[in-house]
Amino acid sequence: MPKFEKLRLGVNIDHVATIRNARGGGLPDPVRAAELAAQAGADGITAHLREDRRHISDNDIERLANNIGLPLNFEMAATEEMQSIALRHRPNACCLVPEKRQEVTTEGGLDVIGGRDNLQKIIAPIKDAGIRVSLFIDPEAAQVEAAHALGTDIIEMHTGTYCHAHADGDQAAFDAELLRLQQAAAQASGLGLEVHAGHGLSFGTVSPIAAINAVVELNIGHFLIGEAIFVGLEGAIAQMRGLMLDARRNASSDA
Ligand code: PXP
Repeated sequence: MPKFEKLRLGVNIDHVATIRNARGGGLPDPVRAAELAAQAGADGITAHLREDRRHISDNDIERLANNIGLPLNFEMAATEEMQSIALRHRPNACCLVPEKRQEVTTEGGLDVIGGRDNLQKIIAPIKDAGIRVSLFIDPEAAQVEAAHALGTDIIEMHTGTYCHAHADGDQAAFDAELLRLQQAAAQASGLGLEVHAGHGLSFGTVSPIAAINAVVELNIGHFLIGEAIFVGLEGAIAQMRGLMLDARRNASSDA
C-alpha cells in the first residue's frame, strides 16, 4: 500500500480585508475569518501584508500572529520594512513574493536568480530567527535550483498560469503547465525542499495539483472567500478539503 502523504490547506484571508477596506471601518474582520477557518479544519492561515496595505493591515498581522491557534504564513515582499515586521511577529513561515504596486494580484513568481543578493540579505536574519522561509516561484528548473542554492526551506509554486489556461479552456497550455508543475515539484523535493503551491486555485483546478505527491501544502484564498458568499466559509473549506483528499488518495493508490 503506497504511503498516503497528508496535504495541508492554508487559507488566505486577504480578501476579507479587501471587503472591509472597501468601506473603511473594521468589518468584516479577517481575524474572525481566520478563527472560523481554524474551526473548519484549515491547517494554517496565510496573509499578505502588501507595501501599499491595500487589504491586510499591520494590526491584522499583529492579531493574526497572536490570536489564532494555527501556523501563520506571512507573505511579504523582499524589503527591509517587511523583514523587520516579520522579525517582530515571528510567524511560522515567511513566504517571499514579488510585489508591484500596479498589479491587481501577485502576477508571477520571484526572480530568484536576478534578485539573489537582495533575497540573501532579507532571508538570512529571518532564517537565523528560526522562521521558515518560502520562496514563491514559477515552476522553472533554474528558479528551483537558485532557490535551493539560497538555502530556502520551502518553495511555493505559482499556479496562476495553470489556472488561467483552465479558465481559457486551453487544454494544450493547461497540460503543458501541469507538467511543468509536476516536474518542478519532483525536482524541488529531490533537492530536499518542502513544496507548496497556490494562486488562483478553485474547485475546478485543485485536484491535479493536489494529486502531485511532492506537494504538501496548498494556499488558497480568493476562490474560498468568494465561495463563502454562497455556502459559508466552513462549507467552502470542507468542500475544498474533500477534493484535495480525494485527489491525493487516488494519486497514492495509482503510485
Ligand atoms: N500563495 C501566494 C504566495 C499568494 O501570493 C497568493 C495570493 O495572495 C496565494 C497563495 C493565494 O492565491 P489566491 O487568493 O488566488 O487563492
